[in-house]
Amino acid sequence: MRMLDPSEENLRLAADALREGKLVALPTETVYGLGADAFNPRALARVFEAKNRPHFDPLIVHVAAVEAVDRVADLAALGNAGAARARALMQAFWPGPLTLILPKRAEVPDLATSALPSVAVRLPAHPVARRLIELSTGAVAAPSANPFGYLSPTRAAHVADQLGDRVDFIVDGGRCPVGVESTVLDLTVDPPLVLRPGGLSLDRLEALLGTVEVFDRSTTSPKAPGQLPSHYAPRARLKLVPAGALPLCDPAPDAVALCFDDASAARLRAEAPGLFARILVLSPSGELVEAAAELFERLHALDASGVTEIWAERVPDAGLGRAVNDRLYKASEK
Ligand code: TXA
Ligand code: MG
Repeated sequence: MRMLDPSEENLRLAADALREGKLVALPTETVYGLGADAFNPRALARVFEAKNRPHFDPLIVHVAAVEAVDRVADLAALGNAGAARARALMQAFWPGPLTLILPKRAEVPDLATSALPSVAVRLPAHPVARRLIELSTGAVAAPSANPFGYLSPTRAAHVADQLGDRVDFIVDGGRCPVGVESTVLDLTVDPPLVLRPGGLSLDRLEALLGTVEVFDRSTTSPKAPGQLPSHYAPRARLKLVPAGALPLCDPAPDAVALCFDDASAARLRAEAPGLFARILVLSPSGELVEAAAELFERLHALDASGVTEIWAERVPDAGLGRAVNDRLYKASEK
């Protein structure tokens, strides 16, 4: 594995590697992706192998321009109104943390989509990702660059620690600003269905679409592995409790508390002094965008420090808070 700075020369080197079927980890605004040429079945097979990912879990194809969508997806198959809705979403939210599930074109290998008739497509906002995709074949399949089931990486070092020589190159683009994965929206059903809450909030989608259904794990069986109840988990045991309930918990002596904001941490210190060995705060002033950006960062750091038990409280279920609560739930012990 070689770590690369995102110079133009290095991006050309990485793009050539992608064309040759190699694996290149790349920064996006959400999390680091493990990239492979989306049209090369052998490269795609290596992605599954490197991540230890089951073949029934399809990949997201990343493009660098809206026009490139038509190479992988067949918008006409959605009908006129459906295609117009898809175009409006791309216009409004791309580049950005929104993945669209669309009818797939035959050119996309079955490995990328787990033989589904649909394909997941996203145009990332990160300039390094876009330049790299542009210099490669224009379509890069990239799941989050973590072993299956583990926390997604938000820094190049996380990728190096987790995947090491299973990846050929890692392009270091610094820390990922959004910090949680993209929102996955299925446009092959009507009304559109959010399969995974993520970096684009539901209210912003609803402002454009009117009604949006949200996948509900209590009533529906999982359609995408991102919906599996256990995923995105740290090595430490994570217990999830309602907001404000941390003072009432029964933690191990060395457990760490993960509070939403300073106010909650202050209440915990006042109501249950010494209950936790350490108290961490996701966002001092209670901002959900900041909490999302900090979530995986904190969990990676806690795992690296060898902590074995983390107690987290739920954050407000609004804006990016939905994605934070979803990841906390999936990371938690049920
Ligand atoms: O922010 C992100 O989305 C990051 C960055 C690298 O772009 N990628 C990411 O990929 O999170 P991954 O593979 O970890 O998650 C992709 C999710 C999975 O839950 C997968 O099941 C779902 O998208 N998915 C992919 N193709 C699908 C399809 N055709 N139908 C339904 N769900 C699909
Ligand atoms: Mg993932």
